[in-house]
Amino acid sequence: MKTLTAVIFLTVNLFCVLEVSNSKPVIDCYLDSDNPNESCYGNVDDAKRVKVKRSMKTLSEDSLKTIPNLFEIAMDDSELEEIQPGTFKDLPKLNAIRLKGNNLREIKSGTFVNLRVWYFFLWWNSISVLHEGAFQNVTQVRQMYLENNDLEELKRGAFKDVYVRYLRMGKNKISKIEAGALAGLFPHDKYGLNVTLNNNRLEEIDPAAFDNKDMRVLDLSRNSISVLRPGDLSKLPSLKTIILTGNKIKEVPEGVFSGTSIVEIILNVNEISVIASNAFHDMENLDNVEIRHNKLKEWNGNWFRGTESILISLSSNSFETIPAEAFKNLPNGCIVELNNNQIKSVSDSAFSGTTNIDTLLLRNNQLEEWSADLLKNVKIEELDLRGNNIKCPEDGSKSLAPTAAFVHISACPSEYF
Ligand SMILES: *[C@@H]1O[C@H](CO)[C@@H](O)[C@H](O)[C@H]1NC(C)=O
Ligand SMILES: *[C@@H]1O[C@H](CO)[C@@H](O)[C@H](O)[C@H]1NC(C)=O
Ligand SMILES: *[C@@H]1O[C@H](CO)[C@@H](O)[C@H](O)[C@H]1NC(C)=O
Repeated sequence: MKTLTAVIFLTVNLFCVLEVSNSKPVIDCYLDSDNPNESCYGNVDDAKRVKVKRSMKTLSEDSLKTIPNLFEIAMDDSELEEIQPGTFKDLPKLNAIRLKGNNLREIKSGTFVNLRVWYFFLWWNSISVLHEGAFQNVTQVRQMYLENNDLEELKRGAFKDVYVRYLRMGKNKISKIEAGALAGLFPHDKYGLNVTLNNNRLEEIDPAAFDNKDMRVLDLSRNSISVLRPGDLSKLPSLKTIILTGNKIKEVPEGVFSGTSIVEIILNVNEISVIASNAFHDMENLDNVEIRHNKLKEWNGNWFRGTESILISLSSNSFETIPAEAFKNLPNGCIVELNNNQIKSVSDSAFSGTTNIDTLLLRNNQLEEWSADLLKNVKIEELDLRGNNIKCPEDGSKSLAPTAAFVHISACPSEYF
């Protein structure tokens, strides 16, 4: 892309690299001193990107004031320890703040105010606190990365009028979120507001903390949440996706998810042994439920009444039987995954009340037989019984489910693969 690079030394302390590419020229301006008076000045009105000397420890109010057209500050993997409030004021064109891998320990009140920055890369620092007013009236954020810091708590007012698409705060040490701490976040655009808090130390979903009318995606995977209570998500009316993989949840009661407009619920790798009958009732928008790698033993045919879920995965649990009318509540065309359980028996009326299943996956269970009558009234695309102990019928695997388009069992010669 670069066709010509000319290095023009302007002063001892400052040099600019002029890159002439096929498109617009970009001038990189280097702040090469801890003394702001000796830094980027002179003919730097067109500087698009400032690169700061690695050893610079402080960005002060004066550091950037001579570069009003600054587009990007690039200072990844350096030794910055402090940003003084005011450093980023009056920089209307500033688009990206790249400060990954520095030694920042706090974001002071008034540091990021009245900005139209799209990208905040503040990950891999040692930030333990975002003071009240750290981010204020920042209205255009596409991505804000605060991952891999040392945050222990989110304070109320740290985010005020922050309009953001993705806010990533995973891999911190957050165990507390103050009431209202997330209420100052708004969606930047039609994609909504997506907040990740994975790999933190939260023990509960406190609705006073998780209070935001626009949050659409919430990732709370790999925290220490052990209990879900009715109303936990009641202050997140726009929530569409909730990811709770890798917590310590034991039970799903009624009133957490039921009746909400959530589309996707991911509860993989928890310790769930109990799901209330009505835990997932009346969820018209529900499309995907994953509860893999849990401790469920008893299937309940009353689950999922009035839902629209298309994919229900309960693979890698401890189910032993499929009871009567097990699937009566499931919508037409659903995909049911029950791989890697210990299913030994299937009730003769397991499929009563069911007329149409897209896919039923029962791989790696302990079934020794499968009656051709089971699915005789059900339209089904695919039945997968591989990894069981079912013998290959004389008439081939398809005779186990004549209504199915595909039937797979290990004992039969591979017919479709
Ligand atoms: C920087 O310049 C200003 C005025 O131009 C002056 O007041 C200040 O003392 C200078 N700072 C340093 C560290 O030289
Ligand atoms: C918010 O910031 C913008 C600049 O991004 C500014 O024009 C506007 O006046 C600020 N609003 C308030 C209420 O300070
Ligand atoms: C939410 O944001 C994360 C992190 O940026 C991204 O990986 C994920 O795809 C987003 N999810 C949705 C549903 O937009």
